[in-house]
Amino acid sequence: MASKPALSHGKQAAQVALGAAEARFIVNNPFSKAQHDLALGSLPGGNTRTLLHTSPFPLCMKQGKEAYVWDLDGHKYVDFVGELSAGLLGHTHPQIQSTITRALTETGLSLGATTPHEHAFAAELCARFRLDRVRMTNSGTEANLHALAGARRFTGRRRVVVFSGGYHGAVLSFPDGAPAENTVDRDDFVVVPRYNDLSLACSVIRGVEDLAAVLVEPMQGAGGCVAGGKEFLLGVREAAREKGAVFVLDEVQTSRLTPGGLGTEMGLDPDLVTLGKYVGGGLAFGAFGGREDVMRVYDPRVPGSLAHSGTFNNNTLAMCVATTVLADVYMPEVCVKFNEKGDQFRERLNKVARGSRLSFTGRGSLIGLHFTEDGTEEITCGEDIKEKLRPDLRDLFWFEMLEAGFWLTRRGIIAMILVTPDQELDRFVDAVREFLERHRGIMIVE
Ligand SMILES: Cc1ncc(COP(=O)(O)O)c(C=O)c1O
Repeated sequence: MASKPALSHGKQAAQVALGAAEARFIVNNPFSKAQHDLALGSLPGGNTRTLLHTSPFPLCMKQGKEAYVWDLDGHKYVDFVGELSAGLLGHTHPQIQSTITRALTETGLSLGATTPHEHAFAAELCARFRLDRVRMTNSGTEANLHALAGARRFTGRRRVVVFSGGYHGAVLSFPDGAPAENTVDRDDFVVVPRYNDLSLACSVIRGVEDLAAVLVEPMQGAGGCVAGGKEFLLGVREAAREKGAVFVLDEVQTSRLTPGGLGTEMGLDPDLVTLGKYVGGGLAFGAFGGREDVMRVYDPRVPGSLAHSGTFNNNTLAMCVATTVLADVYMPEVCVKFNEKGDQFRERLNKVARGSRLSFTGRGSLIGLHFTEDGTEEITCGEDIKEKLRPDLRDLFWFEMLEAGFWLTRRGIIAMILVTPDQELDRFVDAVREFLERHRGIMIVE
């Protein structure tokens, strides 16, 4: 029988530290463990949202307030998960609370009709993100599905070019250069094997017959907060246009980074844009929109137009809250200041981590954490670091940041919350510094 290759001294030391951190996690979180055991009786693996599973068991949160969350065992955390970008405003924003109360008491739920609230919100969305027309959905996944259906109808074609590491929703995911098993219509997708590689993208796009759309994130979010270069994105748009395909920009995460989204800032002039997450102020939300001629495929006055149904598409609660988010809370000037703070935060973190196996990527208020053998800082696509990843160090960091009072995604993404006090950002920089000092032997690149 072939024996396993021996671990290097550094990796053995990381395993020992990780084992000890996991053992402390188990001792410190008995109520989360008990709740997980209970959930196993009704949910597969105790889970209804795969991302939230962590071994040996997930922490179970009982409350969120402002930029903090509390778990069942009574620990308080600074929330850096930020609900993967949907929680931008924190857990108890007073303007969101009062809009919800007003919508409940003055408007009511489930009117089963069009309402002025959806029209006011649509106008707000169109103005903010420079869309001719827009439609609402209940999630970013749905927004992308309907955008692609619209592009297919508009072009009379079927296939779609996407990028390795791209994530466009629960059934539209393209890790490692291929559609994930649960991606819909898998055979319709052609995956460019490297993000940010313009000549490769152009040659793939030019080679696809029956091309309806090119779908791309201006910064790959779930792919690790890897920013797309302006030249790359403009070039992809041109290649799509040359083929007569619809250029769809997925801004479900990135629309928070500049007042009109990254497409507006970079002058990408997309044919369609998809939105979601924070715009709903914490409620289920998505939207897609763009060019009038493309969106006209959804005009119900036109015989044979494409259907776009959804009981909750225009639900009064989300329409009212989302209007408040854009018009009264996350105004352009707030967005600019917040993302400047995010850039400074990321730069400070990179300064502390320089020379170690940890690096930070991203833009503004969205930050990706990467643990690699050589601490690579310049990451243009997931393939750059695929062979160098150190998930053992990533897990060790996660356990120890929990102990220091920071709630993070285990995969390593920070979605900053607007109301997080500056002192907590300082405290996190210190916690990262202390982690690197504590684990010098395994974290510093020789
Ligand atoms: C870029 C991007 N597009 C689409 C989605 C899907 O959004 P939702 O989870 O609301 O379906 C996500 C979610 O993480 C995303 O990051």
